[in-house]
Amino acid sequence: MSDKTVQITDSATNKTATFPIVTGTLGPPAIDIGKLNKETGYFTFDPGFAATAAARSAITFIDGDAGVLLYRGYPIDQLAKQSNFLEVSYLLLNGQLPDKAKFSAFEDEITHHTMMHEALKNFLHGFHHDAHPMAMLCGSIASLSAFYHDTLDMDDPEQRRLAAIRLIAKMPTIAAAAYRYSIGWPIRYPRNNLDYVTRFLHMMFEVPSEPLQLSPIVAKALDLLFILHADHEQNASTSTVRLVGSTGANPYACVAAGIAALWGPAHGGANEAVLKMLAQIGDAKNVGKAVEKAKDKNSGFRLMGFGHRVYKNFDPRATIIRDMCHKLLADLNVNDPLLDVAMALEEVALKDSYFVERKLYPNVDFYSGLIYKALKIPTEMFTVMFAIARTSGWVAHWLEQHLDPETRIGRPRQIYTGSVKRDYVGFDKR
Ligand code: ACO
Repeated sequence: MSDKTVQITDSATNKTATFPIVTGTLGPPAIDIGKLNKETGYFTFDPGFAATAAARSAITFIDGDAGVLLYRGYPIDQLAKQSNFLEVSYLLLNGQLPDKAKFSAFEDEITHHTMMHEALKNFLHGFHHDAHPMAMLCGSIASLSAFYHDTLDMDDPEQRRLAAIRLIAKMPTIAAAAYRYSIGWPIRYPRNNLDYVTRFLHMMFEVPSEPLQLSPIVAKALDLLFILHADHEQNASTSTVRLVGSTGANPYACVAAGIAALWGPAHGGANEAVLKMLAQIGDAKNVGKAVEKAKDKNSGFRLMGFGHRVYKNFDPRATIIRDMCHKLLADLNVNDPLLDVAMALEEVALKDSYFVERKLYPNVDFYSGLIYKALKIPTEMFTVMFAIARTSGWVAHWLEQHLDPETRIGRPRQIYTGSVKRDYVGFDKR
């Protein structure tokens, strides 16, 4: 809390009310309007929460104008270069980088919680074979609360911690199982001698008939994508997890709600939408037309993978991923014509005054789809990949929320625009 205040004067009554300013360690200050309604009779109106901070959080910091992203204070480019996804998960959950002993204990615990209950297979088998894997993931994760109902005392810090570990550990197993079910392959069990990302790749792609050959850059690229997607402060899916969490709901239900929020094309579904859009554009020579269409508000078409609510500068994750995308495609000798379309689109849009004036830059998902495609991850699994990575962020926020004395049930207000009070009339009088 700072000693600064803001005064609001109601021009109708000339009454003034004073509100404290809240500051964090970084970022712009906020007006604490907790007592606004009591003191003035007004609520605030902020659709999309564009000017509203809903919580104090020590996990992730973004400066959208400067293109800065920090996890627990560490710049994303340093973590991308020097860390790995599991260490980043530890950092997000615990606030500090682990020493070697703590990291190995964490890795060991995650590794020994990767199995899913055999009965979960029955759930997956109950889906139609062409069900979207996000639908299967969302349903299966929610069902975990039925499997672990004996450890859902959310007032017990150890049960909360265990739930967080289980979610990070089981998400790749369930995601890979959903994929294999959809293509009719037998489910592969997690192999404990592999690291987190390689284990997932084996569960996805290894067939019983022959060993899987993986180029080291494949696991490296996926690990990088997981690091970049691990958290992004109060984004739509994390805010959903927190909103559901504020009711005291169990973490499996909260994370299932987060998965549902992530699925939308304006959020995590964008990586899938980018590839579909690039395929529709088809050739670099059609890029100009696509850009014109995106500028036409009546077309209903937007350039997927462009723009961000917070970044009004290059998304720092996009810069890192762009480099990896080029390196991976070169190393794997992939000649993807969609990459040419993507590069041409980026070039045209970055010079176009419509995009420049609105500060619409490529976001992380503009490139992630191309990497997933090169890794032979099917398009409908793209958002699932995002969900695996974001689980660390979701559970870190859910754990933080449980320790925050300011947590109250999330309950926004509204501006009612419906009918004023009227009396019911029977059929004969309507
Ligand atoms: N293509 C064309 N025009 C766009 C785009 C786009 N991708 N994004 C925004 N605009 C325009 C809007 O039409 C609006 O123009 P106006 O001021 O003339 O009315 C202006 O830019 C501001 O856009 P808003 O929709 O108000 O921005 P908001 O912050 O609400 O939306 C969002 C951000 C949802 C990411 C948006 O830019 C978008 O739809 N992008 C495409 C989808 C996408 O890539 N989503 C992934 C986000 S990143 C992530 O979740 C990991």
